[in-house]
Amino acid sequence: MRIGVPRESASGERRVGLVPESVGRLTKAGVGVRVQRGAGGPAFCTDDAYAAAGAELVDDAGAILGDCDVVVKVQKPSLAEADALREGVILISLLPAATSADVLERLTARRVTSLALERVPRITRAQSMDILSSQATVAGYKSVLIAAAASPKLMPMLTTAAGSIPPAKAFVIGAGVAGLMAIATARRLGASVSGFDIRAAAREQVLSLGATFVGPEPVSDAEAAGGYARAQTEDEQRKTMEALAAHIRDQDLVVTTAQIPGRPAPRLITGAMVASMRAGAVIVDLAAETGGNCELTVPGETRDVNGVQVIGALNVASTVPFHASVMFSKNVLTLLQHMIKDAAIAINLEDEIVGPMCLTHAGTTRS
Ligand code: NAI
Repeated sequence: MRIGVPRESASGERRVGLVPESVGRLTKAGVGVRVQRGAGGPAFCTDDAYAAAGAELVDDAGAILGDCDVVVKVQKPSLAEADALREGVILISLLPAATSADVLERLTARRVTSLALERVPRITRAQSMDILSSQATVAGYKSVLIAAAASPKLMPMLTTAAGSIPPAKAFVIGAGVAGLMAIATARRLGASVSGFDIRAAAREQVLSLGATFVGPEPVSDAEAAGGYARAQTEDEQRKTMEALAAHIRDQDLVVTTAQIPGRPAPRLITGAMVASMRAGAVIVDLAAETGGNCELTVPGETRDVNGVQVIGALNVASTVPFHASVMFSKNVLTLLQHMIKDAAIAINLEDEIVGPMCLTHAGTTRS
């Protein structure tokens, strides 16, 4: 059996599907790995490191897509890449079903078994394969650095001969994986941090990180299956917006991470709220990919709204390509180890991890 790792073709993607360390684990277990030259370059993984880990290096993506049993990618394949896949191959990559109808059609036609990494079930057994969590951890950390770098203020409280400086005020909306990491990072930088989420369990987690919790009282719990949030009712949403509006006007940094699986991101920051903020404040909207939590967010762009910067950050994990790849690769390796027996891979659609991930198999599209 041979696993292939092509260079990522999507613009701006700097991560790689498997790093040399994971490749070494696979080759030691008797599995062949073929890597396209330069695939790890943007993530600072050299061809020499892949070769030392036992990988075979090739120049042409065709030798990976058309001649391996398993292809591991970060981003979903382009249409051309999907067409170049060998019939019956197993594809492991991000593959957002809602926006990938054209790719899924091609994968079905090529009888590809596609396993969508964002569909790893959130069960304890699969935690070490959970790409959404690992990449959200990276994005949450980096979002605060982006906000701090764009801010005209220092983050920590300082008492110096040149005077005393109060700590910057940072507010994190959505205290899931990315939000909690953002809170921890802002705390480490010395900011005075507050957080908000609509799941009651998140309150304790925010407090345990030393931040204050902001929100309507009492917190209405909007937790759904798998620990995710459900959409709020109109009344809940009105109370939430009132609480946020009162708090946000005094903040220097705002990081928003609120998401509802399978739906557009909830709109939590209105134009009027942005107008109420001080010039120099920064909003980093990590939900930009699904439309944004701020109604002024333009995905992929930074807007200046009367001195308030609204940053529509996209694919933030890819801006920390080394460690994002290390974590991504570890997740994929654990999934592969779950599926590989005696250096051969088998697809078991009854498996509680593989089954939910499978979007196309043997010429059919699964929902
Ligand atoms: P996510 O990326 O879907 O959402 C981010 C956060 O936004 C969530 O905490 C959500 O409650 C919050 N949110 C949604 N609507 C909101 C609103 N209107 N206002 C404020 N906040 C809002 O979720 P994420 O971060 O991927 O995971 C959420 C939770 O799922 C975790 O905290 C954990 O409880 C659970 N989880 C379980 C795992 C496992 O068991 N393997 C792995 C990862 C997460």
